Amino acid sequence: MSLYRPPRIPASQITPEHCFLARRSFLAAAAGGALLASGMPASAEALKASKSPYAVDEALTPEKDVTSYNNFYEFGMGKGDPIANSEKFKPTPWTVKVDGLVGKPKEFGLEELMALPLEERVYRMRCVEAWSMVIPWIGFPLSALLDKVEPLGDARYVAFETVVRPEEMPGQSGYFQSLPWPYVEGLRLDEARHPLTILSVGVYGKTLPNQNGAPIRLVVPWKYGFKGIKSIVKITLTDKQPPSTWNLAAPNEYGFYANVNPEVDHPRWSQASENRIGEGGFFGANRRPTLPFNGYAEEVAGLYSGMDLRANY
Ligand code: MTE
Repeated sequence: MSLYRPPRIPASQITPEHCFLARRSFLAAAAGGALLASGMPASAEALKASKSPYAVDEALTPEKDVTSYNNFYEFGMGKGDPIANSEKFKPTPWTVKVDGLVGKPKEFGLEELMALPLEERVYRMRCVEAWSMVIPWIGFPLSALLDKVEPLGDARYVAFETVVRPEEMPGQSGYFQSLPWPYVEGLRLDEARHPLTILSVGVYGKTLPNQNGAPIRLVVPWKYGFKGIKSIVKITLTDKQPPSTWNLAAPNEYGFYANVNPEVDHPRWSQASENRIGEGGFFGANRRPTLPFNGYAEEVAGLYSGMDLRANY
């Protein structure tokens, strides 16, 4: 049974986690680099990134909403759980292993990935639960990483895997297991190589907070948010369609493709419109129509020409 529910609480009523944020920034200001050296959770560090032409012309979702209204079941199932329960998570040191059907498999240190040219991409993001945000991600095209490992001719898909650390991720242990771990996702190789597909290492000018998928997560703006797998440790090139966590959990509700499609409803709610998180107003005032491919149809519709997008949802 799916754990997803359509949102019932207007964004304007989400309680901001002021105490938490204030405490984190106090720690960062007081201890600075000492925290990193001592192996405690790295607080946000400023990142240099060039502005990308890939930027939507819409108001940014406030940073406090981007970092306090999250889905990250490794830290709990509630929207406020990731910020509340991820303090112990250590995003450094970190490596990402890239293997499978490639000429040059390699385990990359985070530093090497952060040294790639970083861009700020302001993307419209749409969650399958019918809410949306506009987020200034910082990252690099996934294709830049794939080029380094030289995919072989028979590679057709890319599989992704999240870290498993029950001692730091309370949602991965205990009696109530919400999902099977590790969280896994996949893309077709041409989707993975599309210039809009990025690996993000930061948001709002700083390194990613734990709750947003530190230290490195996938961002695919024309697909529902669950494709954006967080805290990635492994990327495997393969010739078979990889499993994806929500498709395994509820195959009739969540497909492999998960392209944003206002014409194909979720079995339990409509996908025709969305609630823009962080915009004020009384309930319903911030609802807007959902766009095909989340507004990126011009760039990506060609990837699916000839495909039945109702069957391949
Ligand atoms: N990745 C992992 N490992 N675990 C998760 O539970 N949730 C997904 C996705 N990536 C999830 C995940 C879902 S459902 C969404 S909508 C996005 O992360 C939310 O990303 P955000 O919290 O940074 O907005």
